[in-house]
Amino acid sequence: MRTVFGKFLGALGRDVRTAVDEIGEDVRAVQERDPAAGSKLEIVTSYAGLHALWLHRLAHKLNDLGVPVVPRWVSQFNRFLTGIEIHPGAKIGEGLFIDHGAGVVIGETAEIGDNVTMYQGVTLGGTGKESGKRHPTVGDNVVFGAGAKVLGAVTIGDNAKVGAGSVVVTDVPKNSTVVGNPGRPVLLRGQRVGIPDIDYRHLPDPVAEAIKCLVARIVEMEQELDEIHPERKGKRQEAVRQTQEMLAELMAYDAGAGI
Ligand SMILES: CC(C)(COP(=O)(O)OP(=O)(O)OC[C@H]1O[C@@H](n2cnc3c(N)ncnc32)[C@H](O)[C@@H]1OP(=O)(O)O)[C@@H](O)C(=O)NCCC(=O)NCCS
Repeated sequence: MRTVFGKFLGALGRDVRTAVDEIGEDVRAVQERDPAAGSKLEIVTSYAGLHALWLHRLAHKLNDLGVPVVPRWVSQFNRFLTGIEIHPGAKIGEGLFIDHGAGVVIGETAEIGDNVTMYQGVTLGGTGKESGKRHPTVGDNVVFGAGAKVLGAVTIGDNAKVGAGSVVVTDVPKNSTVVGNPGRPVLLRGQRVGIPDIDYRHLPDPVAEAIKCLVARIVEMEQELDEIHPERKGKRQEAVRQTQEMLAELMAYDAGAGI
C-alpha cells in the first residue's frame, strides 16, 4: 500500500515539476513575442492566452486518460473564462502564444507544432464537410494574424504566416505567407510572388504618349494649312518649330522622368 502511495506521489511530483517547467517556458514565449509584456507576475496573471493553454493541458490530459465528459466541462469553463475555445482533443506543442485571445477556436483534430503565435479571432476549424481528421495541422513557428480562418484538414508548413483576416482552405508550404480570402501567397517558400517581372524605370507613361500623338497631329495639320494658305507660311513655320521643340521636350521626359 505504502509503495503504491509512494509511486503515486512520485508521479504527481514529476507532473508538478513538468507543469512548472512548462509554465516557465510559456512565460518566456510571451516575453519574447509580445513587446507589451511586463513583469512575470503581470504575464502570469493577465494573459488570457496563457490561462487558456493551462486549462487546455488539464482538459487534454483528462481526455487522454479516457475520463468522460469532464474534459469538455473544463474546455467550456476555459471558454467562459478566457473567450478561447480549445477542444480537449487538440494537440498543442510547446510555446504556443495566443495574444489577446478572445474568439479563438481550435478544433478537436487540430495539431499545432512548437512556438506558434496566434492573435484574437483565429479559427482552426473544419469545413463542416469532413469527418475524422478534419482540422488543420500546423508546423513550428507559424503566425496566424487576427481573425485568420484556416478550415479543413490542411497543412500549414513551418515558419508560415497567415495574414490577418485571411481564409485558408488549402495547404500552405513552409516559409510562405498567405493573405486575403481566399488566401493567396505573397511569399512562397521564401520567395516574393505576385510582382510582375518588368523594368519599373522604363514603364510607358500613358499621358505622355497621348500628348505626343496630339502634338504630332497638330504638326501635320499645320503643314497641310501651309499648303492651303502659302502666304502665311512664315508664321506657321514658326508655330511648327515651337511645337516640334515641345515634342522634343516631351520625348526627353518619356525617356526618363515621365510627366
Ligand atoms: C501577412 C503579414 C504577416 C505581412 O506579411 P509580409 O510578408 O510582411 O507582407 P507585406 O506586408 O509585404 O504585404 C504583402 C502584400 O500583402 C498585402 N497584405 C498584407 N497583409 C494582408 C492581410 N492581412 N490581408 C490582405 N492583404 C494583406 C499587402 O497589402 C501587400 O499587398 P501588395 O503586394 O498588393 O502591396 C501581416 O500583414 C499580417 O497580417 N500580420 C498579422 C498581424 C496581426 O494580426 N496583428 C494583430 C495584433 S492585435
